[in-house]
Amino acid sequence: MENCRNFGGLLACLGLVAILTACGGRSVNETPDAVLKSVLADKFLIGVAVNSSQAAGLDSIGAAVIKKHFNSIVAENCMKSEEIHPEEDRYDFRLSDEFVRFGEENNMFIIGHTLIWHSQLAKWFCIDEKGEKVTPEVLKKRMKEHIYTVVGRYKGRIKGWDVVNEAILEDGSYRKSPLYEILGDELIPLAFQYAHEADPDAELYYNDYGMAHEGKRNAVVALVKKLKEQGLRIDGVGIQGHMGVDHPDYEELEKSIVAFGQTGVKVMITEWDMSVLPTVNSGANVADTVSFNDVLNPYPTELPDSVAVVWNERMGTFFRLFEKHSDIISRVTVWGLSDGDSWRNDWPIKGRKDYPVLFDRNYQPKPFVQQLLKKKNE
Ligand code: GLA
Repeated sequence: MENCRNFGGLLACLGLVAILTACGGRSVNETPDAVLKSVLADKFLIGVAVNSSQAAGLDSIGAAVIKKHFNSIVAENCMKSEEIHPEEDRYDFRLSDEFVRFGEENNMFIIGHTLIWHSQLAKWFCIDEKGEKVTPEVLKKRMKEHIYTVVGRYKGRIKGWDVVNEAILEDGSYRKSPLYEILGDELIPLAFQYAHEADPDAELYYNDYGMAHEGKRNAVVALVKKLKEQGLRIDGVGIQGHMGVDHPDYEELEKSIVAFGQTGVKVMITEWDMSVLPTVNSGANVADTVSFNDVLNPYPTELPDSVAVVWNERMGTFFRLFEKHSDIISRVTVWGLSDGDSWRNDWPIKGRKDYPVLFDRNYQPKPFVQQLLKKKNE
């Protein structure tokens, strides 16, 4: 309760009391021995993406639940290049320093996310002062400096890095991002080379979504083999695991877990969540309020039991898949602590209400999580 020492912390603590009261006096600490990290200790690390208020302890309830249940954390946003390196000659380490301190203080396996990604990329990264694409030489120099500085700052403290994020499309081709257009096939190997040079002991990962697609699966397997043939270090493949109630296909995902494992690297579920909302494309007409509420945002107050049952069963099914492959899966990380924290409420359209992660808006574990916790007590 160290955060009760300041005014912001006091308000947060009063909030905690209010929530506990609303929950009929049950506290998040009710069963101190039944915590996810101990239930899963012989299987894999259990991680969560942490936002800046949690890392700073401003969200003291969230921070307490994270400390209680998780033994690995990843930075939700503060290490993306637009945040940590907003201008070529200016880094901003305030939030990332807090994030790493939070992990160290709580003895967690800390993941850095992410070094090279086409999205949330600092605006200056690929262009010159005239707004034109830089040459390959300039981009290599910038990438090297960026990776050396960020990885170097947390050398020995951040244990694993998502070196490259989302560079391959579902058909297996390389994403034609500005980064790729400038460096082509050199892009990914160079990123891994620089990261390894900056911290030879850090684990290095390739991370992507849509990994159940055959084209992407084959391309990622080929990438891992190619990096290894080139003598580069790659320790793991991250399957993001952003799911819906209709995707991914269970069998196809299992094939990918097995295929990645067969390359000899660790497999990680790195950004697990499961939306209950209808899939929309960015062309959806959100100006039509009636259809928005009825069709695209069907559960604006609470999740009906019938849908919750489907969600919990499906989450449980995938969790058992991860447990089944715990010989190769080294970590399962959830993308966000509570439903209220999740990016899914605002993507791909803003202002919907989703229910995608392990803890509800009152920080209570969902039924399938309660099942996991109960197993330990039986
Ligand atoms: C991708 C990224 C994450 C995050 C999510 C949405 O999966 O890897 O960093 O931005 O999208 O929050």
